[in-house]
Amino acid sequence: MSKNGSISASVIKRLPRYYRFLGELKAQGVNRISSRELSQRMRLTASQIRQDLNCFGGFGQQGYGYHVDELRHEIGKILGVDRKFSTIMIGAGNLGRAIATHINFDTRGCQLEAIFDSNPALAGLKVGDLEVKPSEELAEYCKKNNPVVAVLCIPKASTQDTADTLVSLGVKAFWNFSHYDLSIGYDDIIVENVHLGDSLLTLTYGVNVLLNDGEDAENE
Ligand code: NAI
Repeated sequence: MSKNGSISASVIKRLPRYYRFLGELKAQGVNRISSRELSQRMRLTASQIRQDLNCFGGFGQQGYGYHVDELRHEIGKILGVDRKFSTIMIGAGNLGRAIATHINFDTRGCQLEAIFDSNPALAGLKVGDLEVKPSEELAEYCKKNNPVVAVLCIPKASTQDTADTLVSLGVKAFWNFSHYDLSIGYDDIIVENVHLGDSLLTLTYGVNVLLNDGEDAENE
């Protein structure tokens, strides 16, 4: 199997989606699926699926298709879903609380172990099973617990400084919601910038094309 470092970013981006679809198939009691059927469900071409999965050595068998549970397990291993990367969250505002309580970190290789906020009024607030800790305790906590992943749910303005501090404390990866593209300057740090607004804009583009095409057709 090739190392993840040599797999293109676009293939890696599709793996969570394969993993999710295969999980749904498993829950529906589907044991095996052809690449054609999987492609129809996922709205990808069958050759795209074969190409993607071939990057990891290919899991299908001619005339059989894919064994759902086996393929899901293999993709899960590649993604690292069974890992328990120690994770902290910075910012226990509306977004932070929503993510901490609605995202299942455990099934995605991360374990959310602490939440910090600079607002002293939030210290001790219960968010799921965790109590918000004051930011003053961050450095000591990191030295003791060595978190690997940080989820940033703080305003844009304080993101760079906070990330710098966290890197100096040993944090290796950021799930960054702060509307600030953190990748700059961090070659050996993993950053996943999340912009829900970008997803909405992709939708807007689609609607724009759809309705403009409709208008164009009417005007012809
Ligand atoms: P909020 O104002 O409810 O919460 C922010 C929290 O961060 C506050 O509790 C504040 O005390 C804390 N905070 C600020 N600076 C801090 C620091 N240096 N260290 C620790 N805690 C700190 O805001 P909300 O709604 O939770 O949004 C958080 C951020 O996420 C905002 O920047 C917002 O624009 C962004 N956002 C991003 C989305 C995305 O798709 N990426 C979607 C929605 C919001």
